[in-house]
Amino acid sequence: MTRSHLPPSYYIGLLSGTSMDAIDAAIIDFSSHLPSMISAHSHPIPNELAHKTRVLYRSGKNEIEQLGQLDIEWGKLFGQAVITLLEKSNCTRDNIIAIGSHGQTIRHHPHGKTPFTLQIGDPNTIAMLSGINTVADFRRMDIACGGQGAPLAPAFHRHLFQHKNHDTLVINIGGISNITYLPSNPRLPLIGYDIGPGNTLMDAWCRRHLNRPYDENGTWAMQGAVNLELLSQLLKDPYFSQVPPKSTGPEYFHLDWLGSDDSAPQNTQRTLLELTAQTICQDVVRLTKTNHTRVLICGGGARNHPLLHRLKTILGACFSVETTDQHGIASDWLEAMLFAWLAKMRTEGNALDLSHITGSTQKKVLGGVFLGSI
Ligand SMILES: Nc1ncnc2c1ncn2[C@@H]1O[C@H](COP(=O)(O)OP(=O)(O)O)[C@@H](O)[C@H]1O
Ligand SMILES: [Mg+2]
Repeated sequence: MTRSHLPPSYYIGLLSGTSMDAIDAAIIDFSSHLPSMISAHSHPIPNELAHKTRVLYRSGKNEIEQLGQLDIEWGKLFGQAVITLLEKSNCTRDNIIAIGSHGQTIRHHPHGKTPFTLQIGDPNTIAMLSGINTVADFRRMDIACGGQGAPLAPAFHRHLFQHKNHDTLVINIGGISNITYLPSNPRLPLIGYDIGPGNTLMDAWCRRHLNRPYDENGTWAMQGAVNLELLSQLLKDPYFSQVPPKSTGPEYFHLDWLGSDDSAPQNTQRTLLELTAQTICQDVVRLTKTNHTRVLICGGGARNHPLLHRLKTILGACFSVETTDQHGIASDWLEAMLFAWLAKMRTEGNALDLSHITGSTQKKVLGGVFLGSI
């Protein structure tokens, strides 16, 4: 039975993060306070497309031609992800109000004389292929308002998890890890920024040495030992002590950033896992103001049990560390929900106040609309 006789009421969230592990596509129902997921689909990203996209992270020859072509290739793949998602679900396009599409980030340079951020995945193509109104280009209005364009998640984290009885820290461990501090007092400002490399360096090291996209459950890392000298050198990077607002990406945290390391590759992998754990814990401790702070983890890193174990061990018994799954939100799908929610905010004309997060100078409605329906 399909729902096609009902008025449209759902949104689709669509994104591929810096990890490029898959396109996440999910149909979300926002009719109750906690959003619920109607259907979800992980759409594979062809290796060649992922490779060509990584090449574009850094300057090289023939960039404009590559950018133009990849913009369309990604648009087609996002559109196909939506079509497959709808086929797998009980829904048709008539049940969907809008798609929120993040796109694939190619460059994120929020500093310097001319800050910019660039996501590709042509929303015209997505709207055409799906026949659904598509909201995209969420970050550049924030940059236009003097913000960093990232992170956008904290506003949604507040909607999901702010609680009057305790402060909450939400940590998303994707390619990059980011943190949101939600004070129990809703009148106090949120804090949110990118912590640093979540999985991106571990993934890149794994691709180089094992030719695998990532280290399943940290198994390879746990065969190695931490190289303390390398770890302490990496922890000295000024990004980690920089005061927010701050945001970053794999164009900063890449294998050249790591420098040379002569120890066995599994030791480097273990060191990178430790770097992710220690940089997260450092910031958890830095942001914690009360004894009743809960720590909620989401993103692909939540599936890496040795990493979670390290977080719990370093933070000790004073902190409760749980995944968002334990609070009704699937940790793998939170970011897809975020973009569905941003499409809803845009469709309803709700402005977001990200001034304490990105440094934006004003409340703004984010995203451009590309009509699929007419
Ligand atoms: N079972 C697992 N074991 C270890 N790491 C995992 C596992 N599942 C996912 N990951 C990690 O999570 C990453 C994907 O996380 P995700 O939240 O999708 O990041 P992004 O938003 O950058 O796409 C993978 O590249 C991998 O590093
Ligand atoms: Mg992903």
